[in-house]
Amino acid sequence: MKLDDQIQKLEAGALARIQEAIDSEALEAVRVDVLGRKGSLAQISKDFGKLTPEERASAGKALNAAKQALESAFESRKQAFASDALNQRLRAEWVDLTLPAPGPRPGSLHPVTQIQDEIEDLFTSLGFAVLDGPEVETEYHNFDALNIPPEHPARDMQDTFWLEGGNLLRTHTSPVQVRGMEKLGPPLRMIAPGRAFRNEEVDASHEHTFYQVEGMMVDRDVSVAHLIYFMKTLLSAIFRREVTVRLRPGYFPFVEPGFELDVQCLICGGPGCPVCKQSGWVELLPCGLVQPNVLRMSGIDPDEWGGFAFGLGLTRLAMMRYGIDDIRLLQSGDLRFLSQF
Ligand code: PHE
Repeated sequence: MKLDDQIQKLEAGALARIQEAIDSEALEAVRVDVLGRKGSLAQISKDFGKLTPEERASAGKALNAAKQALESAFESRKQAFASDALNQRLRAEWVDLTLPAPGPRPGSLHPVTQIQDEIEDLFTSLGFAVLDGPEVETEYHNFDALNIPPEHPARDMQDTFWLEGGNLLRTHTSPVQVRGMEKLGPPLRMIAPGRAFRNEEVDASHEHTFYQVEGMMVDRDVSVAHLIYFMKTLLSAIFRREVTVRLRPGYFPFVEPGFELDVQCLICGGPGCPVCKQSGWVELLPCGLVQPNVLRMSGIDPDEWGGFAFGLGLTRLAMMRYGIDDIRLLQSGDLRFLSQF
């Protein structure tokens, strides 16, 4: 076969392969095969030496023409693959900019905050001041001024986070009562909501950080009857119904007499259930009449004044009200949990 014909045949075959290439890699393989340095066109030009000058001139022309034709076919096929790829990407990554945005999600108050707010409102309406105090406390305000001297066994009742320099993280909000008595003097009605800390082994019902509201009233002729009245008013408001309470003796160095106030279980109403551990009662409110030493240490004459004090576990209350069975959820910061309230 004449070289010119060979060139033409090669060109036709290569054009067909360019059209058949399924992607840009296959196309590149064809290009190397035909137009590359060791490709079929280069091979053919090796035979030019054997030709007459006229034949060489004509074969040279044919070769150049074939080369140009193939190069442009290759180029346009390459463009086609590139624009296909772009179109595919545009289709895949398409976003509808006219869709409405999801918008900011409304937040909600933490369940403990909600209950705290309600209790603050209630006590404010009864003439109580809402006082705040430091979370890092002195040993004096957290223990000594509450009739808990250094060697007193009651210090072991509270696993304390001690800090350098003798201070501590308050183990209850009672020190705010001491500060209230020191600063405001009698007569006094106050509550102290806030965080308290104990070095507890954390599990479903124990946390190292929890919320309390402690309260106190100091006035003339304050009796256990006043205490019970305020506690019943408090609990009925929180649970939005009449509650049945009972008092049991309880020991706290800063009250005398001291009580544990139990509420008849609001889940089962008395017969017993897992929440009240089958007893029908839930321990909710330690309280009592303020110990004369405690008044005296804060500069109040116990012969003239008396008072009651109570401590309400806000965290426990929130759990009872909302039926939360794991205390750890409250501190978790988990929005799936918090957005339910
Ligand atoms: N401060 C006590 C505690 O946190 C609770 C308490 C307050 C008990 C007032 C009696 C009277 O354990």
